Amino acid sequence: MKNKLEKLKKEILNNLEKVQNDSALRDLDIKYLGRKGKFTEILRGISKLSIEEKKKIGKLANEIKNELQLEFSKIKNKISNKNDNIFIDPTLPGKKIDQGHLHPITQIQNDLEYLFSSMGFMVLEGPELESEYYNFEALNIPEYQPARDMHDTFYIDDKDKKNDMVMRTHTSPMQVRAMLKYGAPLKCIISGRTFRCEAIDACHEHTFDQIEGFMIGEDISMSNLIAIIKEMMSGIFERDIKIRVRPGYFPFVEPGIEIDVSCVICNGKGCPSCKHSGWLEMIGAGMIHPNVLNAGNIDSEKYSGFAFGVGLTRLAMMKYGIDDIRLFNSGDLKFLNQF
Ligand code: DAH
Repeated sequence: MKNKLEKLKKEILNNLEKVQNDSALRDLDIKYLGRKGKFTEILRGISKLSIEEKKKIGKLANEIKNELQLEFSKIKNKISNKNDNIFIDPTLPGKKIDQGHLHPITQIQNDLEYLFSSMGFMVLEGPELESEYYNFEALNIPEYQPARDMHDTFYIDDKDKKNDMVMRTHTSPMQVRAMLKYGAPLKCIISGRTFRCEAIDACHEHTFDQIEGFMIGEDISMSNLIAIIKEMMSGIFERDIKIRVRPGYFPFVEPGIEIDVSCVICNGKGCPSCKHSGWLEMIGAGMIHPNVLNAGNIDSEKYSGFAFGVGLTRLAMMKYGIDDIRLFNSGDLKFLNQF
């Protein structure tokens, strides 16, 4: 055992001489003196020796161990002194840390939330996984309404058919949820992701963003709606925007309208983006249907309200002149870094 110890000591000292850095020193420490190290293993064997031997070998082993530890700390000091001597030039330019920024859709969303809250609207959020009831029925779209065809979406498999859930096809479901929670009078906007089962191309995506707004009070009329929409459009495009109102059909409003805005790309002169008409179809809106107010527990005799829905993605495409909707979810930094 004495020979084994001496041999191992030599081996360790030899290896120590070659050590150049902290991590090599640590490895060596673990290899020999660590809990499962070679030297430690020999020390464990001492317990099996006779009392006489134990005394002799034990003493020797302790001496060797102390000596080795001393050598280890000497080498450690040598290495750290070496590091101290490295010249650092504090005047060298630093490395630039890449910084992310908000997605263009989030930027428009934030701008709109700011604009609407300055007009006294509450900013709410709603669930992306929505019950069929709020997404359709509460909005006056019963099961066999043909309007459901345009809202084909991702249904969640529910074998018992007790809890029918869908990925929300629009932000409108929050109308009834908010009415039930806050009652009338009420002014809110809700924005976020919506989903539809689409054949994807430059103009269609399965995941896109919308903003919904509505206002309920005792004398709310279509004029309030038009004033708010003009305010919103001028706020987003940072200039005066002309709008045009046409009748439109949505089951949850009566009367329903569609609002076009003068093409922001050609300023109404006519270009491929507006199909040479000078107008862009942008917004669905109308006066909230009494059935929807009733679903929200609001007295439709006493209160009236308007509602509108706009594609945030569409707004961003117009604002920044983006001609392919797929870029938004592409994660392509060449695209994103332009905003
Ligand atoms: N939810 C409709 C859609 O996604 C848009 C819409 C139309 C919202 C009319 C409204 C509205 O609030 O009044 O197609």
